[in-house]
Amino acid sequence: MLTVRGVTKSFGGLVAVNQVSLTLNEGEILGLVGPNGAGKTTLLNLISGIYRPDAGGIVFCGEDITRLSLDAVCKKGISKTFQHPRSFPALTARQGVMIGALYGNGRRPTVREASREAEECLRMVGFPEDKIDSPITNLNTFELRRTQLARALASHPKVLLLDELTTGLTPSEGKEAVSLIRKLRDEGMTILMIEHVMRIIMGVSDRIVVLDHGEKIAEGEPAEIVTNEKVIDSYLGERYHF
Ligand SMILES: Nc1ncnc2c1ncn2[C@@H]1O[C@H](COP(=O)(O)OP(=O)(O)O)[C@@H](O)[C@H]1O
Ligand SMILES: [Mg+2]
Repeated sequence: MLTVRGVTKSFGGLVAVNQVSLTLNEGEILGLVGPNGAGKTTLLNLISGIYRPDAGGIVFCGEDITRLSLDAVCKKGISKTFQHPRSFPALTARQGVMIGALYGNGRRPTVREASREAEECLRMVGFPEDKIDSPITNLNTFELRRTQLARALASHPKVLLLDELTTGLTPSEGKEAVSLIRKLRDEGMTILMIEHVMRIIMGVSDRIVVLDHGEKIAEGEPAEIVTNEKVIDSYLGERYHF
């Protein structure tokens, strides 16, 4: 569904993503892991059109999207959540999600329709009904995460890119977030997710790609990844136990 071929992105002298290739198959959950600064967020930013790669290409559903803007990529059906989500603090949860509906994938809903869709998306991700019209600043972390997910869903994506969606959540909230992600996949969504809690990523991913210093150092099923010597050396530190 999505093919990333040899993408590279530098910031000044720093090569944040170095000739990374990966394939995302329809209906799968692909986990992206690696130490802090490995280039995970940058790679998602390249796919979603926030950055343009210095080299390499990205093909989505047979179409070259390498040089498209964030907005154009979103309209093609790739939607991303942000690692640091307080982008529109003055908006309410509903308004934040309406942005996704209004500027999303290929449709032009009216404001009224977008408002109703926002409500549906918030409900779908378990957002509390009585806070739908609360300012985003009044939300707790989990409510904020639900809003992010709802906003991404409101754009009717085929592919969801999730950047550390469970960060800041308690273990039980994390579990609930994971079951939400699974439910979305079971309903047909294709998901590429960055996650730093190994227990979570190992449990939820069909396949995992490991980045280190901007380079892909491993790729495989969770059971292969946890026994991969390179991954253990650079990231896991010691053998990981399920
Ligand atoms: N906009 C930017 N300008 C300069 N350096 C950046 C920028 N974004 C990321 N970097 C650098 O690129 C490297 C990879 O960052 P990032 O992709 O955020 O890593 P990760 O998400 O794996 O923690 C880091 O060294 C980071 O400091
Ligand atoms: Mg990151």
